[in-house]
Amino acid sequence: MAKLWGGRFSKNTNELVDAFNASIEFDKRLYHEDIRGSIAHAQMLGKCGIIPAEDVEKIVAGLETILADIEAGNFSFEVALEDIHMNIEARLTERIGVAGARLHTARSRNDQVALDMHMYMKREIVEIGELLLQFEKALLAVAKKHDRTLMPGYTHLQRAQPITFAHHLLAYFNMLQRDFRRLQGVWSGADIMPLGAGAIAGTTFPIDRFDVAEQLNFGSVYANSMDAVSDRDYIIEFLSFASVLMMHMSRLSEEICLWSSTEFGFIELDDAFATGSSMMPQKKNPDIAELVRGKTGRVYGHLQAMLVTAKGLPLTYNKDLQEDKEGFFDAVDTVKFSLAVYSDMIST
Ligand code: ARG
Repeated sequence: MAKLWGGRFSKNTNELVDAFNASIEFDKRLYHEDIRGSIAHAQMLGKCGIIPAEDVEKIVAGLETILADIEAGNFSFEVALEDIHMNIEARLTERIGVAGARLHTARSRNDQVALDMHMYMKREIVEIGELLLQFEKALLAVAKKHDRTLMPGYTHLQRAQPITFAHHLLAYFNMLQRDFRRLQGVWSGADIMPLGAGAIAGTTFPIDRFDVAEQLNFGSVYANSMDAVSDRDYIIEFLSFASVLMMHMSRLSEEICLWSSTEFGFIELDDAFATGSSMMPQKKNPDIAELVRGKTGRVYGHLQAMLVTAKGLPLTYNKDLQEDKEGFFDAVDTVKFSLAVYSDMIST
């Protein structure tokens, strides 16, 4: 919002309300899912005889050009059009005329935003799953090299019994394997198709939700339209997964900070993942480990924020739910960044 206001409060009430309402600054990252979802919806409307085939053709062609424009950086998003759904639909109608307006038949932004978020989450789950496996592999490789490397094992941070470095690293490997299983659980919550719920009570148009689900590769559809537009449990599940994963990464980070200190002196970090000090040349600060440990706090914060946002809401959609996005997107970025940088760091 600071961006929209240029960091200052506008004195103009309309501008202020528009900026406060708008989610376009952050939900524009849903553009791909919004367009793919709309294309599937339009195809279904055509197949069910709800809109004419010529309209479907125009809508699909129009949406494809909008997709190309966004990807080429040739699309200007308007704050006054509030969100990604209205930005794309308004541009479509501008380009193809009245057929564009027919795209909204049997649909509301309430089920549309739910669809976009489910699709987007499924895409990110695949990428995060790959990064997680890559990190597990990197850990395994280091453990393999050190199956004879002895080190002290600690309880109460007091030397307890001798262990191997491999034994220690494989403990994290097993934690990450469980994180992967949790991620698979998050997938099943995201793999339910909400479109067709309309604003709250479905639609009287003879739509075919199963066709949309099939086109978009969803395993099932929501059974209850009010549930489909109001719950954000799948986001809370993702944030829970992300919090547990970050907790594991944060504990490893803390150990890396300890081990690389002069007091422990167990490991030395590659220069790429540490910084020195010109005034104190003896130092090698474990910045990356510290940052991952630090960023864990903000992911916990996003989980807490989403739980609190949802707890007092009456069914069904309330604008409060627009607040589900920034924390979720930030958690996705933080997890991906942490996993990617850790795979590289651990290997060196
Ligand atoms: N930008 C809104 C959100 O993210 C989309 C849904 C808006 N629906 C509505 N009835 N205002 O939640």
